[in-house]
Amino acid sequence: MRVLGIETTCDETAAAIVARKRDGGGEILSNEILSQVAQHAAFGGVVPEIAARAHVEAIDGLIDVALAKAGLDFADLDGIAAAAGPGLIGGVLVGLTTAKALALVTRKPLIAVNHLEGHALTARLTDNVPFPYLLLLMSGGHTQLLAMLGVGDYLRLGATVDDAVGEAFDKIAKMLGLGYPGGPAIEREALRGDATRFAFPRPMTGRPVPNFSLSGLKTAVRMEAERIKPLTPTDVADIAASFQAAVVDVIVDRTRAGLRAFREAAGRPHALVAAGGVASNAAIRRALTRFAGETGLRLVIPPAALCTDNGAMIAWAGIERLELGLTDDLLVAARPRWPLDASAEPSPNGKS
Ligand code: KG4
Ligand code: ZN
Repeated sequence: MRVLGIETTCDETAAAIVARKRDGGGEILSNEILSQVAQHAAFGGVVPEIAARAHVEAIDGLIDVALAKAGLDFADLDGIAAAAGPGLIGGVLVGLTTAKALALVTRKPLIAVNHLEGHALTARLTDNVPFPYLLLLMSGGHTQLLAMLGVGDYLRLGATVDDAVGEAFDKIAKMLGLGYPGGPAIEREALRGDATRFAFPRPMTGRPVPNFSLSGLKTAVRMEAERIKPLTPTDVADIAASFQAAVVDVIVDRTRAGLRAFREAAGRPHALVAAGGVASNAAIRRALTRFAGETGLRLVIPPAALCTDNGAMIAWAGIERLELGLTDDLLVAARPRWPLDASAEPSPNGKS
């Protein structure tokens, strides 16, 4: 089974072709990605109109290249998948409408994929992880812990009540003048900083419900930066390192609470999986590796390039759904908001 996956929900235009192997795992035949970072950098964040226009300009060419690199034609595909949300609606419309047009013309099934489900299932593409597993999903807009029980069967155990982890990285980076995107910039600065210089708070730690809160930490960092400004390069590096250390502690503590909640709801998970752009952070990966070792859990974190937004994860989620007959008709709508666990109350920040 081979599926084309299209991703246009934020600031990466991506197209990929993924196949499912006989053993159930995935094989990436091509994975084309065009980052718009340079076009948004001057504005300190993603400008939705610029993003949508850039997706329009890039998507057709990327699909051609993805097919060529895979050595395939449209006729060889079993389905066309696109992220139909959540995300910036202008961009989502570009990818989804492209997929609809291709599905109509080629008479192939259309699969409207939840972008978060793409992140959530990537560990099955890379490592064939069986259900159920505990998922720690951290991206620019979302931070949640989920019990992944089966395709389409996701139980939200906890989520952030304010900022997403990636959002906190981005806001602190902006505050420190490190530009956009913030995660990689903070990680780079932190490498040469002193993580013990500032004792920033670790919000929510110790609480049994596996929710997150990042806004108090962000405020504490802002107040410290204001207090000592003008910031020297050493100050910036020390703040970045101390902030990252606080985030790492929060993530490990909340994941521990998530594991407890998982056991109460669904027994023992086969693995702990981390996904989303923030999971590409090396300090976070190290801390989760240590935590998994202590608890005897198998830890799976996809390679960094498959943690940040990409087309392969959309193609893979498309394969998983297509195999279960979960296809969509051409009237399926693009969705700016789209929770993975539809039965859960909207999260306090309204985003998941
Ligand atoms: O999953 P993703 O690529 O896009 C969304 O769906 O949001 O995640 C992007 C987020 C951004 O907030 C970015 O700053 C963060 O992931 N990120 C990182 C790192 N690389 C990306 N955060 C911390 N450390 C990193 N190395
Ligand atoms: Zn994402």
